[in-house]
Amino acid sequence: METRVITPEFVPHPDTKEAVSEAVRLLQAGEVVALPTETVYGLAADALNPAAVAKIFETKERPAFDPLIVHLPHKKDLPLVAEVPPEINAVLQKLTDRFWPGPLTIVLPKKPVVPDLVTAGLPSVAVRVSANSIFKKVAQTLNRPLAAPSANRFGSISPTSASAVEAELSGRIPLIIDGGATMHGLESTIIKIEPGAPKALITILRPGPVTAEDLKLYGKVQTVTRSVVDEATEAPGQLASHYAPRTPLRLLTKPSDFIPEPGKRYALMSYRGEAKDGYLGLTDWVEVMMLSPGKGKLPEAAVRFFYILRALDHLGVDEIIAEPLAEHGVGVAMMDRLRRAAHKVGQASSLPSNKASQASSLPSQPATKMVAPPSFYQNLRYFDPRADIENEPRNLPHWRQPGLSYFVTFRLADALPQEKLNLWREERRQFLEAHPDPWTEATRGEWFRRFPGRLQEWLDCGYGECWLKQPALGKIVHDALRHFDGERYDLLAHVVMPNHVHALLTPKGEHHLDQILHSWKSFTAGAINKALGRTGEVWQHEGYDHIVRSPEALWTIADYIVKNPLKAGIQTSFVGSCVPNT
Ligand code: TXA
Ligand code: MG
Repeated sequence: METRVITPEFVPHPDTKEAVSEAVRLLQAGEVVALPTETVYGLAADALNPAAVAKIFETKERPAFDPLIVHLPHKKDLPLVAEVPPEINAVLQKLTDRFWPGPLTIVLPKKPVVPDLVTAGLPSVAVRVSANSIFKKVAQTLNRPLAAPSANRFGSISPTSASAVEAELSGRIPLIIDGGATMHGLESTIIKIEPGAPKALITILRPGPVTAEDLKLYGKVQTVTRSVVDEATEAPGQLASHYAPRTPLRLLTKPSDFIPEPGKRYALMSYRGEAKDGYLGLTDWVEVMMLSPGKGKLPEAAVRFFYILRALDHLGVDEIIAEPLAEHGVGVAMMDRLRRAAHKVGQASSLPSNKASQASSLPSQPATKMVAPPSFYQNLRYFDPRADIENEPRNLPHWRQPGLSYFVTFRLADALPQEKLNLWREERRQFLEAHPDPWTEATRGEWFRRFPGRLQEWLDCGYGECWLKQPALGKIVHDALRHFDGERYDLLAHVVMPNHVHALLTPKGEHHLDQILHSWKSFTAGAINKALGRTGEVWQHEGYDHIVRSPEALWTIADYIVKNPLKAGIQTSFVGSCVPNT
């Protein structure tokens, strides 16, 4: 697809007419377009058109458990999409009078008209009104609410300029309107409001340009810290991995935290570039970029923040080192983004998560990990594609080679009805009879579609008790999968579905796939039985595993895994991947 970029001559300029009408035309046709907002560029679609919204997820490669923000044409449109509980009406009124249009997103009970795809099945919807003149004009001309996440690929850095959008999405979307650099540079503040006496309780779910200090005038303000977000999952989309550069990033607390390793190349994200802060002289930096040179002003730093992160990411250094920022005002939001960006492969399992299962009715702790450094993938070995590798069910015993990655699926004992299994076995027998070795690529493809592929589809139908839908039980499996991650194996991607589990992993050292699978299954079976107060079989004895044959296959499988919930139409946070999206 060719991506057209329209740059109105002066921004904002009354002559944006052509750009606006083109955007409106595309949105009416169910397309996605990238538009400037005052925070970051958004990838917009008609929020009430599920097919259009699905395109957002597809374009961004974003998992469907991550809900979208709905942008209204006008403040007065709020009742179209959200319920306003009378107890919070007064404070909501004050907040919207003060901050709308602007960088404040408010989570409210949703109206049925909002598609579940927008809210990831949540009963609430996140709403804001953008102050950007181009965005406003488009929304008002279209006169429908727009769902718009940041216009970047999932897990990557939010774009604050049209060229950053191009770098992320060129060729995937028909139109980008260039509105220049965005005014705030960070995504909107997200809050929820609860009634309270004498003051309403305002909870900041994602810090942003509207600060805790700003909100204090309107209620008692609390900020959800990272670990609480991870545990209580008020905002299931608040993935720890968001806003991540590809280059590993380390956030320092103080200069003495950093000891350079010989031979490594480092770049520094400095707050104001002052030698007296103690960071400039720590090593021979490949590059030092300053967020707000001179005195250091947090709002200025915010505007440049993602731009600089992106620039540092392009240097090809081994590590980006970030100075800490003052945690007040919009500094809170930048520190939040830096902590997320610093959240790396292997660290996910060390996050506190114990209280999660009691804490909420929603699945806890989104586990999508940050993209690993390229070297991680270069070190993976792939199976020789010329060899015949179909290991299931043809070549028993299963083929094993050290250093390879495997895609495994295992399922609850009751996940497939016996008569389906019998039918499947019979069909499989006939197929093998009809297709003697050697197989062509086409036969191989047909085999996959008809057998493993269809098995996956049957599993997604949700047969049986689907115990893993219960957050506490799903979490047992999720935690078990991650328990020895980095130690006995590298877990590249995984998902816990209601009645089955997929994992993509590379066993390490002496550890064998069979042993790993056995330990996962026996440990979780015991724990699940205990939780359910029952005994007996939990998992189907037989599983499915498949050797990863190429980097493309690795990507395809990881993609399948993270999108499985979307495909099956369910919502789960027990999913993760550290395989890059490209
Ligand atoms: O500034 C912004 O907010 C930008 C511009 C384009 O408007 N949008 C943006 O969207 O940052 P996105 O998709 O990157 O982040 C939306 C986040 C979700 O990840 C989730 O954390 C939160 O909003 N969210 C959406 N719906 C929610 C809900 N019903 N309850 C709680 N959090 C919700
Ligand atoms: Mg985003």
